[in-house]
Amino acid sequence: MSRRHFLALSGAMAGTTLINPSSPIYASTAETLQPAKKTRIAMVGTGVRGTGMWGRSVVQSYPNYIEFVGLCDINPGRVVLAKETMGVSCPTFTDFEKMMKEAKPEVLIVTTVDNTHDQFIIRGMELGADIIVEKPMTTDEKKMQAIIDAEKRTGKKCRVTFNYRYSPHRVKMWELLRAGEIGELTSVDFHWYLDTSHGADYFRRWHRLVEKSGSLWVHKASHHFDLLNWWIDSDPESVYALGELNFYGKNGPFRAVNCRTCPHTSQCSFYFDIMKNENMKRLYVDNEKYDGYLRDGCVFKNDVDIYDKMAATIRYKNGVQVAYSLTTYSPYEGYRIAFNGTKGRIDAWIEESRPTKDVNFDEIVLFKNFSKRQYIQIPHGTSGHGGGDALLKDQIFVPNTEDPYKQAAGIRDGALACLVGIAARKSIAAGAPVMIESLTSIKPQAKKEYKRV
Ligand SMILES: NC(=O)c1ccc[n+]([C@@H]2O[C@H](COP(=O)([O-])OP(=O)(O)OC[C@H]3O[C@@H](n4cnc5c(N)ncnc54)[C@H](O)[C@@H]3O)[C@@H](O)[C@H]2O)c1
Repeated sequence: MSRRHFLALSGAMAGTTLINPSSPIYASTAETLQPAKKTRIAMVGTGVRGTGMWGRSVVQSYPNYIEFVGLCDINPGRVVLAKETMGVSCPTFTDFEKMMKEAKPEVLIVTTVDNTHDQFIIRGMELGADIIVEKPMTTDEKKMQAIIDAEKRTGKKCRVTFNYRYSPHRVKMWELLRAGEIGELTSVDFHWYLDTSHGADYFRRWHRLVEKSGSLWVHKASHHFDLLNWWIDSDPESVYALGELNFYGKNGPFRAVNCRTCPHTSQCSFYFDIMKNENMKRLYVDNEKYDGYLRDGCVFKNDVDIYDKMAATIRYKNGVQVAYSLTTYSPYEGYRIAFNGTKGRIDAWIEESRPTKDVNFDEIVLFKNFSKRQYIQIPHGTSGHGGGDALLKDQIFVPNTEDPYKQAAGIRDGALACLVGIAARKSIAAGAPVMIESLTSIKPQAKKEYKRV
């Protein structure tokens, strides 16, 4: 039995619900593993994430459950290419309203640039669709509140795809914490390192502008804040942060607009020849004529206005305190984490960009006070993000899957992850701590709320 069919069967037998529990698409008993009809899905934002994570692989993996009925992108070349690479026959649009009205999707996947998510989430729900949105859900607190209000007004569902929750070693940490292995959790040390390849790439793209990405506090660190919220099982209460731009942008020794037009390529360690990557060339270079977007922008451009080193102290409503940092120009990619409890400590040093494939597991060390340490090795998953991406998609697209680790995230979780980053930005500007409850109508709780989406 395949993993997908096992998930469907086990979930169905447990009588659990779907992405849209009120939808009549699927009956809720085990004999209806074949859906009565396929869910009609549309996508807005057909860039690399849309067409990769949510495109071709979804079309190929879930043909019994879903069908694409529309693709939309502001860039007319990219949306036509998406149709070809995804292998679908649905119509393409550059006008979102037109797509929603003509294609009438039941589910809308939102994979546009971060600062535009809110408009598609809200309008998509108003026009009758449930939403699947990539993190970060949005980039500021006003857009956040508008999304919260729209969900209440329309009664539609919004699922935020926190794929990091699905990596097997992170699930193991969640299990150890929930099992009380280190007693009561009191504090967490969490330090994330982006390397000079992946980290630098954020400074080449639209992510380098606060206006587009909300800064890496929101675009990137919201992944980490969501993990913290999920692991700690409580809501963040206050954030005090520091941040500076010390390495990229204005700090560079020279600069150009982009690598293809740069006179300094022979001296620059960050030279990136996009023309060597046929997929990127087709996705971005061939479509520059429509929107002027340069995927190989210079990492030292003067317009970079995000921080490249960040640190925050976060207090949770249940009293747990967190020391967090993000560095974006590290020689390796990965993170160090320690959970400190009244009866011990959980430690892990996860390298995500290992130089060799010899080590095919992640290791967690469990220290119990006055006892021997235990080494727990978790085999690497086979799909993206340590196997997490495939598990997340199974849970979303296969009917009746269970959620034993409470990984399915809705608007409240999506919001709280972003709000820590938004609070950090505001804290740096104000030079003072920022209370999460001052930002939106969400009131932080000592015990995290869980609602299956
Ligand atoms: N969970 C993860 O690990 C992960 C990884 C990568 C990206 N993402 C998220 O996925 C989203 C897309 O990122 P990407 O790397 O594919 O970026 P991208 O630049 O490749 O794609 C974004 C697409 O959105 C389109 N777009 C922008 N504004 C639009 C508008 N107003 N209307 C319609 N289309 C519009 C662009 O033309 C582009 O095709 C982002 O929110 C990003 O944070 C998540």
